[in-house]
Amino acid sequence: MKVMVIGGGGREHAIVKKLRENREIDELYVLPGNGGMAREATCVPIGATDLPAIAAFAREKAIDYAVVTPDDPLVLGAVDLLEGQGVPCFGPNKAAAILEGSKAFAKDFMARHHIPTAAYRTFTDPEAALEYVKDCSLPTVIKADGLALGKGVVIAETRQDAEAAVRAAMCEGKFGRSGETVVIEEFLTGPEVSVLAFTDGKTLVPMVSSMDHKRALDGDKGLNTGGMGTVAPNPFYTEAVARQCMEEIFLPTIRGMAAEGRPFKGCLYFGLMLTEKGPKVIEYNCRFGDPETQVVLALLESDLFTVMQAVTEERLSEAEVRFADGAAACVILASQGYPLAYEKGFEISMTEAVRPHLLFAGAKEKDGKLYTSGGRVLGVVARGKDLREALSLAYERVEQVHFENEFYRRDIGKRALEA
Ligand code: AMP
Ligand code: GLY
Repeated sequence: MKVMVIGGGGREHAIVKKLRENREIDELYVLPGNGGMAREATCVPIGATDLPAIAAFAREKAIDYAVVTPDDPLVLGAVDLLEGQGVPCFGPNKAAAILEGSKAFAKDFMARHHIPTAAYRTFTDPEAALEYVKDCSLPTVIKADGLALGKGVVIAETRQDAEAAVRAAMCEGKFGRSGETVVIEEFLTGPEVSVLAFTDGKTLVPMVSSMDHKRALDGDKGLNTGGMGTVAPNPFYTEAVARQCMEEIFLPTIRGMAAEGRPFKGCLYFGLMLTEKGPKVIEYNCRFGDPETQVVLALLESDLFTVMQAVTEERLSEAEVRFADGAAACVILASQGYPLAYEKGFEISMTEAVRPHLLFAGAKEKDGKLYTSGGRVLGVVARGKDLREALSLAYERVEQVHFENEFYRRDIGKRALEA
């Protein structure tokens, strides 16, 4: 079979590696991929949002199956387009991807279906939003409605910050059309948990839970990033919490989407906060998380391609989805300066022994060598019998990779270990 994966980061590298375990796949393409994954798949220089070129490539190569991973092509309707030309896909269609594509939709949806989440107000009029933040409680959370490269959320501690965030989104066009509508919501506290789940619109199978580390620096300091490391499972996510989430959040979500004529098929990501009043949804993502996928798939024992096909064919209830005991950790090696400006183009040196444990996000290949080409360069992954072992192995492996300007967090998993 000929399979293509749309996307190009560490998450896609993890997916590509896992798909490689399936013998039915003879040809595996990744659009655009990156130089670091060229050993496992053929990288094709087509951008993940270039839908016409993606569709043309699928026709030209007679692709049998497509995995659409990033948020933007999903929200733009890549799955509708590909399925329209007869290519079965893993990923939600446009009608279902709105769960991530519009935070206002997601919040109203949760309200309609009594799914626990932070109290909120939606604004389309900047004056009304500015009026509201004059006396709302602080801190307050201001979210651009649409996709904003993970940068659309501001936690404002002061009124000035809240006002500035509203102005930036609604008056200054900081996020383009994504910020024309803004959700302002209650600030919640508690441990955060990411739960990715396979769903075919009827059945939902949660994957092992995980914990992201979003801030750039140790001790959860510095700017928000796309994620500096992950561990799985998440120790705060006990079996009792998992049961509660299934009943109060996961099942009402897929049933609600189906009832509204938007059955969700693919990987649904629940960003949860375990508050004193129970688990609440912080956000939905319509896709695998990055870098959650790197640790979750490290523990997946079942064949990923088989599960994906079961999702597409709406027979997930028959599929086996098994995870290994033990734990996994991923430490992201980034370019100094990320998530702001950074230099790139530095050679990445590594031992051959460590290479199989690296998932590349921002790497370019030239004359058989790899060079940094992004803010997040790669993730170093390890499994262990428990979290402590996984982390110590991951950090040992970090020592076997070098590039100029490298930086990483030294405290990935620390909070989880203390839990
Ligand atoms: P997001 O871009 O939606 O993933 O949000 C980024 C981060 O902002 C989340 O991972 C949370 O840490 C934080 N956040 C979002 N919403 C809230 C909230 N209502 N209360 C507290 N923190 C929040
Ligand atoms: N790790 C967070 C995300 O994928 O959105």
